[in-house]
Amino acid sequence: MKKIRWGILGTGFIASKLAEALISLDDCTLAAVASRDAGRAKEFAEKYNIEKYYGSYGELSEDPDIDVVYVAVPHTGHKDATELCLRNRKAVLCEKPFTINSRETEELIRLAKENNVFLMEAMWTKFLPASLQVKKWIKEGRIGKVRHIKANFGFYNEFDPDSRLYNPELGGGALLDLGIYPITYATFLLDSMPERVYSCAEIGRSGVDEQNVVILQFRDGILADLSSAVSAALGRDALIAGEKGIIVVDWFWMATRARLYDNGYNLIEEFHEPFRTNGYEYEAEEVNRCLREGLLESPHVPLEDTLSIMKIMDGIRSSWGLVYPGEQGK
Ligand SMILES: NC(=O)c1ccc[n+]([C@@H]2O[C@H](COP(=O)([O-])OP(=O)(O)OC[C@H]3O[C@@H](n4cnc5c(N)ncnc54)[C@H](OP(=O)(O)O)[C@@H]3O)[C@@H](O)[C@H]2O)c1
Repeated sequence: MKKIRWGILGTGFIASKLAEALISLDDCTLAAVASRDAGRAKEFAEKYNIEKYYGSYGELSEDPDIDVVYVAVPHTGHKDATELCLRNRKAVLCEKPFTINSRETEELIRLAKENNVFLMEAMWTKFLPASLQVKKWIKEGRIGKVRHIKANFGFYNEFDPDSRLYNPELGGGALLDLGIYPITYATFLLDSMPERVYSCAEIGRSGVDEQNVVILQFRDGILADLSSAVSAALGRDALIAGEKGIIVVDWFWMATRARLYDNGYNLIEEFHEPFRTNGYEYEAEEVNRCLREGLLESPHVPLEDTLSIMKIMDGIRSSWGLVYPGEQGK
């Protein structure tokens, strides 16, 4: 079996995480890394024992030995980096949020189709064993009809107008970076998109949403109460309340543990499965599987869902009047 050859664009936090995951897998090779700076690429390559390194994203995207590229740059760079790879007929796993807005997502989907190449959003949470177990409990009716979902994702980060989290030039703000997780999680568990969306935000010192609350209303009146913040440490758990019971998921976006209770909070069942590596191996395995099977998208993170989530976030931002610099006048 030929090993699938991966390249990574970017050398930051998440690039390191996927590098660790990829080198733990047998059926693929981390074959190249690219940075805007050749010195940083070399350092990253030495750290993870990667054969090739490049001082520009363009060079890696043209390397004929690379099958799939992981785009691990700040949000505002996703569109251009992914486009570069798709035009060079490379499959792409692109970090979340897939792009800054749905218009950019639509363009990338069109390009992937035109070039007949695989494209997937790196929504790793959907592949975690604990996420799959929670969905299985719901499908089996273990908590009866779902009534309500609560999920928050927020950290306190010292205000730094230049950081990825606060800088509007880099797509800063809580919704695109963190809020995307609870929104995606609710739609993933319910296998549907909301009928109505309500929200409010605190637009902070650098003009991005430092914190927000989003309420989604689904079919049958199911409500999801979801918050995210870059300037407040919100609760870390998700709670799914049904007519017959409750599921609580610790650190839901990176879960290894979930608990099933009856409505009296008596523990019925507990699931706990530590990651084999660091949690990113599951999405990488999915990409490898899809490429081996000649699929152009993953049935578990379909491009249509990625686009729907981007549209939901566009609508939310529009209601707050939050427009990123590159979007002005478009
Ligand atoms: N799935 C997850 O769990 C997860 C976790 C964290 C982040 N993310 C996503 O991954 C992306 C990257 O986040 P990160 O935390 O890895 O960020 P980071 O640590 O700041 O790294 C981003 C990398 O992108 C490259 N880059 C290209 N243009 C840049 C620019 N204008 N400013 C700064 N860096 C630039 C840099 O590498 P070179 O200069 O070497 O090219 C940098 O090291 C974001 O979109 C984020 O939403 C996902």
